Amino acid sequence: MTNVVWIKHAAQLATLAQAGTVPRIKEAMNDLSIIEDGSIWIEDGIIRAVGTTQQLEEQFKDRAHAAEITDATGHLVTPGLVDPHTHVAYGGSREREFEMRLEGATYMEIMNAGGGIHATTKMTREATEDELVEQTKKRLDSFLKHGVTTVEGKSGYGLDLATELKQLRVMKRLQQEHAIDLVPTFMGAHAVPTEFKNREDEYIDLVVNKMLPAVADEKLAVFNDVFCEVGVITPEQSQRILEAGKKYGLIPKIHADEIEPYGGAELAAKVGAISAEHLLKASDEGIKAMADAGTIACLLPATALYLREQAAQGRKMIDAGVPVAISTDCNPGSSPTTSMPLVMNLACISMRLTPAEALTAATYNAACAIQMADKTGSLEIGKQGDVVLWDISNYQELQYLFGVNHVKSVWKKGIKVVG
Ligand code: NIG
Ligand code: FE
Repeated sequence: MTNVVWIKHAAQLATLAQAGTVPRIKEAMNDLSIIEDGSIWIEDGIIRAVGTTQQLEEQFKDRAHAAEITDATGHLVTPGLVDPHTHVAYGGSREREFEMRLEGATYMEIMNAGGGIHATTKMTREATEDELVEQTKKRLDSFLKHGVTTVEGKSGYGLDLATELKQLRVMKRLQQEHAIDLVPTFMGAHAVPTEFKNREDEYIDLVVNKMLPAVADEKLAVFNDVFCEVGVITPEQSQRILEAGKKYGLIPKIHADEIEPYGGAELAAKVGAISAEHLLKASDEGIKAMADAGTIACLLPATALYLREQAAQGRKMIDAGVPVAISTDCNPGSSPTTSMPLVMNLACISMRLTPAEALTAATYNAACAIQMADKTGSLEIGKQGDVVLWDISNYQELQYLFGVNHVKSVWKKGIKVVG
């Protein structure tokens, strides 16, 4: 039997409709294509019609009885949020490091002393695949409750062949077992593991010669990411890994200029990365290079807040013509959160995005950053029925009432999964 969902009378239906899959830049990021008294009709998981309630009442007058109807009077309805940058599939947790940082230790000091990414690597290596599935599933459930219906997830807490593959297989299993769409990224160069200390290039050889071919062979990833950072992976090593990945069809992404300026934004433009992440310390030349190349800036204001750093220059990047997306960076060290609504609030408060830009950055542009814009990120005919009904009436309120979860109901591929 056909599953039909009809959400009608939305005070604001923010469709973000536009033809194509090109990320929005500049003024277009403010255009939410809002329909007042809006209606959306989803059939077997796919959006079949979007318009005013009057239009859809006319179009479906003979079939209304077959639909599961939701009256959205007084409510904002948006596309399901998209989180284009997470490290969601990890073992254990690191609350003691949070205390240490409050006592004055820096993120890099903790990591260089064998904590940070190395601590999570140890816990992820020790966890079984089933245990990782269990822990990751809880985080995905929390994402859904916060209105997020699509999530990118990175490996990078294995740092050896077996565990990198284990993390990616965990994500593959969850893609099948969980309602959320989980898009996998290989990140073997998240750090050089402690056993390769002073033999860093040998680890890069391992990533290039063993890990990349194995990941490609099992088709376990779509993207290839590196932590290009002073004291972690150099720009030269990063370039080598990203170019090698391209030969296997893996699309480059880069953790760029997070802690110190390191030419990461420039490198992203140079290697044709789909996106560059963090960019707290990106140079003006790097921002220009990204605008020219069309590289998406994936900005993570919750990470900046959590590390007590100045956020990236989101306002400046948008004005310079860089397409901007935003993300939680969900990870156990620098941003242990699953709240994209909080990230939208912070995008406005600490990066001076407008409320409309923040919503575009968390939906349509985020989908573009993980090549999912043909399926989700806007409410348009032919796309998946990924929809959020909010317990508020307009999009400005969504960014204004901060730190609270206003999600009332969520549909993923036309199935109600929350509310
Ligand atoms: O994006 N910067 C590198 N990676 C993560 C943090 C990982 C961790 O601390 O476990 C990030 O912030
Ligand atoms: Fe990250």
